[in-house]
Parts: sequence; structure tokens; C-alpha cells
Amino acid sequence: MWSSRTLFILAAVGSAVGLGNIWRFPYITGENGGGAFVVVYLLCIAAVGIPVMMAEVLLGRQGRQSPINTMRSLAQQSEAWRGWSLIGWMGALGGFLILSYYSVVAGWALYYIYLLASGTFVGTEAAAAGAAFDAFLANPGLLVGFHTLFMVITVFIVGAGVVAGLERAIRWFMPLLFVLLGVLLVYGATSGGFAAGFNFMFSWNWEKLTADGVLEALGHAFFTLSVGMGAIMAYGSYMPNKASIPSAVVMIGVLDTLVAIAAGLAIFAIVFANGLEPGQGPGLLFVTVPIAFGNMGLGVLFGTLFFILVTFAAITSAISIIEPAMAFAVEEFKARRWHVALVLGLVCWILGLGTVFSFNAWADVHVVGEMTFFDFFDFVTQKVMLPLGGLLIAVFAAWVLPKAVVKAQLRLPGGRPVEVLWEVLIKVAAPVGVLAVFVYTLYHFFFQ
Ligand code: PHE
Repeated sequence: MWSSRTLFILAAVGSAVGLGNIWRFPYITGENGGGAFVVVYLLCIAAVGIPVMMAEVLLGRQGRQSPINTMRSLAQQSEAWRGWSLIGWMGALGGFLILSYYSVVAGWALYYIYLLASGTFVGTEAAAAGAAFDAFLANPGLLVGFHTLFMVITVFIVGAGVVAGLERAIRWFMPLLFVLLGVLLVYGATSGGFAAGFNFMFSWNWEKLTADGVLEALGHAFFTLSVGMGAIMAYGSYMPNKASIPSAVVMIGVLDTLVAIAAGLAIFAIVFANGLEPGQGPGLLFVTVPIAFGNMGLGVLFGTLFFILVTFAAITSAISIIEPAMAFAVEEFKARRWHVALVLGLVCWILGLGTVFSFNAWADVHVVGEMTFFDFFDFVTQKVMLPLGGLLIAVFAAWVLPKAVVKAQLRLPGGRPVEVLWEVLIKVAAPVGVLAVFVYTLYHFFFQ
């Protein structure tokens, strides 16, 4: 069990804050035209993500086992169908798929530590930064190398069980990350792109929002909070009983959102100051940030530090992504952490090769429709598995688990009004919201 409430919060923040905030949020915001997409995303965080996260933590703390066995035993205790353990199985499987591409992208950040430290971008122009990234993506050998390095680091940390020490380091790294995002923001502000970036993110442009964009915002709300696949449930199972779930979860949600918004503002300021394309896709972070650090005083130092922090944030998230499968294997087969870590890491590494080649050799290989391997893994996890997992978790906590259990776990502050709000969110907003978005997207897919 975590030794304290603080350690739980640090671990959960470590899980939540990662590539989702710094890499994914800005680039999907760019692809979806900013403005309205950000509003829908914030709404999904507040009305769906945070309530489901509370539910996930409370299930974990009530069950105190790996997500698969937690769901099985809670279903049993509630005299419900044992098949609810499917939530756990789907989450563990989702973890493999997510980590496979997460590791590839984290490998990009690792490589960029080297590029920035070696001064590659000093005085760079936008076109050169873009060309450097394209050249990197076109080189499968390099991509595999850094994907491998990231996976080895993760396996080592998970296998050796030095996770708690790492979580403690978040106390120092998180404020530092904010400082560096601040440096980027100041650079963006002085180079004249801040107002345009701000407008892009917060203007009211509903006409740009598509059905697919709404599903993307919802899926990303789950992804960025690490909710819907058991990661936070596994962490909840280590949370001490006396700690308050609502206050911890709200704090994690707010911090996670602040990092995403700060990253978005910084990146779009650079985009508009340099006449770049906001919707250029997964390379956005790796094209914009080097331009900024390449053209500021102490840029080599700050830039290197920035990508070290991004990599660190990715590691603390990666650990949580495999925790559901890890916890299950250790609990069920009494397996050693080392062995499990090696096997899980190997499987994810192999799956990750699909993503590596999506950007070069297999760019024209389409798994389904127009989707490359990367698109497909991304689609299945973010747009299907996480929302579906979140939906089932909400339904289980709201309708299956005895009310008294939920009440005793949550201990909501604020009396009746807050209780009513919780009930409305977990019984109606979360399940109906997810279902409505699914149905709406399917309708658009088939009829428009
Ligand atoms: N929340 C992490 C991020 O934003 C990713 C993650 C997804 C972690 C799912 C755990 C589970 O980068």
C-alpha cells in the first residue's frame, strides 16, 4: 500500500501527466480546428472523466486486487454477473496496445534529448525543424532503436520495483515542467504568436467540429486521465482508506488539465509565430518546440531539460499502463516481477514495430479502411476501448455496487447537493454521454 495519501496523488499525477498532455492534446486540437474541440474536451473531463475516475479509484480501493480480480470479486460480492471482470481483461489488453505505440513516441522524445543537447537546432528555421523530424520518421532503424531504449528503461524500472522512488521524484519534476512550459510561453509571447494561438484554442468555432472530433475529445479525456482501462483502479487498490477520493481525483484532474492547456498555448504560440500548420499531426510537438529552444538564450540547456522532462513524464505513465496486466500476473501466477516485466515489455515492443513502420516502410499498409497500424492502435484504444471501459465502470459503480459501499468509499463532502451532483454525473452524464457519442459517430459514419 502507498505509505501516504501524497504518494497516491504523486503516482496518479505521474500516470495522468504524460505524452497525452504534451504531445497528443496539442496535435489533436490542431487537427480538429481548436476552439470548439477544446470546449468539448473540457466538458468531457469535468462531466465524464473526473466522475469515472472517482468510480475507478473507489472500485480499486474496495477490491484491493488487480483490476481483473477486483472486478470479479466485487461482482461476486454484489451478487452480480461475474462477467464484469471483462472490464479488467479489456483494460489489461488495452494496456498492451497503448504501451506499444506510447513507447514509440516516447522514443521520439528520447531522441530529441540528444538532438537538443547536441545543438542541432541552434538558430534553426521552421522548415529545417520540420525536415529534421521527417528525416527521423523516415528512418526505421533509429525509430526502432529509441523505441527499444524506452522499453528497456520501462521494463527495468517495473521489474526492479523502484516505482515508488520514481513517484517521489514527481514532486520535483512536475513544477520544473511548468517552469519550462512557462519559458516556452514567454518565448511564444515575445515572438508574436501568443494572441493567435490563444484565439485558436479558445475561439467559438463550432463549424469546425465534426462527429469524429467529438469522439476524439471524449476518448482523449479518458486517455489523458488514464481512466477506462484499470490503470487508476490498480493505483486505487494501493490507496490508504483514510485518504479522500474526491479531493485527490479533482486535484489530479485539474493538474492534468493545466499541463495540457499550458502545452497547447505554448505550442500554438510557436505555430502562429512561425506560420506553421496547426493540423500537421503527430509531429507538431517535435517541430514547434525545437524552433523555440533553437532561437532563445540558454536554449540548448532548456531544450534538453524539456525533453528529459517529457521522457520522465512518459516513463511514469508507461509504468501505469502495464500495471493492470502486471498486477494480475503477479497475483494470479505468483510470477516474479522481473519475469512478468520482461514478457510484457517484449510483447509491447513487438506490437510497437507496427507503429514504427507506419511512418515509413508500411505507410501504405492499411489495416482497416485508410488506417495504418498506428492509426488503428490509436483508434481502437482511444476511441473504442477507453470510452467503453469508462462506460462500464460508471454503470458498475452507479447501478451494480451496493450504494452503501460507494458512499463509504467516497465520503463526499458538501452534503446533499454534492451527492445529487455525483449521482447525476455517474448515473446519467457519464453513461449516456459516452453512449450518445458512440451512436452519433456511428450514425455519421454510416449515413453521411
Ligand atoms: N494518461 C497518460 C498520458 O496522458 C496515458 C495513459 C493512458 C496512462 C492510459 C495510463 C492509462 O500520457
